[in-house]
Amino acid sequence: MTVFIPRDTSALAQGAHRIAALVRAEAQQRNLDIKIVRNGSRGMFWLEPLLEVSTEHGRVAYGPVSESDISSLFDAEFHLGKPEHPLYLGQTDNIPYLAKQQRLTFARAGIIDPVSIDDYLRHDGFKGLRKALTLSSQATIDEVTCSGLRGRGGAAFPTGIKWQTVHDCNASQKYIVCNADEGDSGSFADRLVMEADPLMLIEGMIIAGLAVGANQGYIYLRSEYPVAHQILNEAIENAYSQGYLGGDILASGQTFNLEVRLGAGAYICGEETSLLESLEGKRGLVRFKPPLPAIEGLFGCPTVINNVLSLAAIPYILAEGGNHYANYGMGRSKGTLPLQLAGNVNQGGLIELAFGLTLRELLNEFAGGTFTGKPMHAIQVGGPLGAYLPESQWDTPLDYESFTAIQAVLGHGSIVVFDDTVDMLQQARFSMEFCVAESCGKCTPCRIGSVRGLEVIDKIQAGINPQQNIELLDDLCETMIHGSLCAMGGMTPFPVQSAFKHFADSVDASIAKHAGE
Ligand code: NAI
Ligand code: SF4
Repeated sequence: MTVFIPRDTSALAQGAHRIAALVRAEAQQRNLDIKIVRNGSRGMFWLEPLLEVSTEHGRVAYGPVSESDISSLFDAEFHLGKPEHPLYLGQTDNIPYLAKQQRLTFARAGIIDPVSIDDYLRHDGFKGLRKALTLSSQATIDEVTCSGLRGRGGAAFPTGIKWQTVHDCNASQKYIVCNADEGDSGSFADRLVMEADPLMLIEGMIIAGLAVGANQGYIYLRSEYPVAHQILNEAIENAYSQGYLGGDILASGQTFNLEVRLGAGAYICGEETSLLESLEGKRGLVRFKPPLPAIEGLFGCPTVINNVLSLAAIPYILAEGGNHYANYGMGRSKGTLPLQLAGNVNQGGLIELAFGLTLRELLNEFAGGTFTGKPMHAIQVGGPLGAYLPESQWDTPLDYESFTAIQAVLGHGSIVVFDDTVDMLQQARFSMEFCVAESCGKCTPCRIGSVRGLEVIDKIQAGINPQQNIELLDDLCETMIHGSLCAMGGMTPFPVQSAFKHFADSVDASIAKHAGE
């Protein structure tokens, strides 16, 4: 009898450790021989803690479980997978939220013990690495190029071209750096990879190292993810002890070492060049490009720097072939995108789907309505630098080019829902304030522009020459877009301008409410 109780941040926040302890104690008291596996989350956060039990018909689920449910769960013989309990959800794979997805990257999430090499191997783990070990480095890069994979951190640059650039550099030292500084509001897919299936990320990084000739990798992890830190380190230790990391990777004569380094909480350290500065032990200040990190990156050496999701997609691509991966998606957006549904919804969680579904379809199929019961009004896609989308834009397909066409970004795939009580002028103010707090200070349009922008928004809100100040704000936004050195200053205007452009009624209402303050 095996009971699965997640150990990832979302489940722990709902008391999963305590639930595990109580299940263990209750089983002992009832003299039942139960094995508890601490898995990761399946990504259905409203059901956490989600307990699963393996049965001859597959795994069945119960959730969300609270401390007071433990005794009745045992009375109903949940440990045998019996359905006589109000929290019984049936076979986990048949829960519609999961059944409707196309999970390639997240296929193992919540299913395996995240740090067990044996469990990973039983579920197709290291299949991609084994394939890569039979290929030349060029053939591995060709598979990635053919898959059409584009950087999942948000910029959507073709991963194969980035790897090729590093591969073609003649240098004695090269690096693989994983950007795990997941700072976007509403974003949690990187964390879920690291907490539910970290060996997949490790495998992706080893393959990248073999492909470009790098023998050292770093995972730059945000310090706000202590659970991911713990799980990653356990997984890395196990990978070393079984010969997947270190010298002579599985008798190939090659070496790949890997370490996790913690950031210190600056959003801008998710920008690749300030991340590299931070990794070198300096203040996280954005570098001028060129040179690109692919040519002169960490410690001046050619460096592949990829987001967690990009590297996590690699094992599947190698195992199944680039062509197979490219069959998913639409247009130039190939493969699947892990979307993260958050904000004012009933069913927040991770949804992996091929590119191409519209935003409205996604919301209808998965969100389960708003938590407040009020109508959805504004959706922010792509993090705090993404535009707010009004309902007239919800039929936009979720692919990179379609979003660019409406002056929005898909970014890292986070989707934050607001109901019709949202004050959009306040949201615009929040975006500018965020830039004031997080700007690295290197360039004037962002450092000074954001402070002036905040002042102008405050004047608008106070009803001081609103029309004139709205025009001034728009001018300032254009200067930030065209004059900033990186996406922080260059994209902050997107949420600000979209709030004024698409939500004029809410902006007017906010002015009427605050005028004279
Ligand atoms: P970028 O377009 O300048 O570069 C994208 C990537 O391609 C970089 O790694 C760059 O070094 C590489 N690259 C560009 N040309 C290349 C070439 N010819 N050869 C090899 N490599 C090349 O975009 P950037 O500034 O790196 O990222 C901006 C994006 O980051 C935004 O679109 C935003 O969506 C996203 N973002 C993501 C966040 C997150 O938490 N995931 C937070 C904030 C922004
Ligand atoms: Fe730094 Fe902002 Fe300029 Fe980026 S745009 S380099 S964060 S000051």
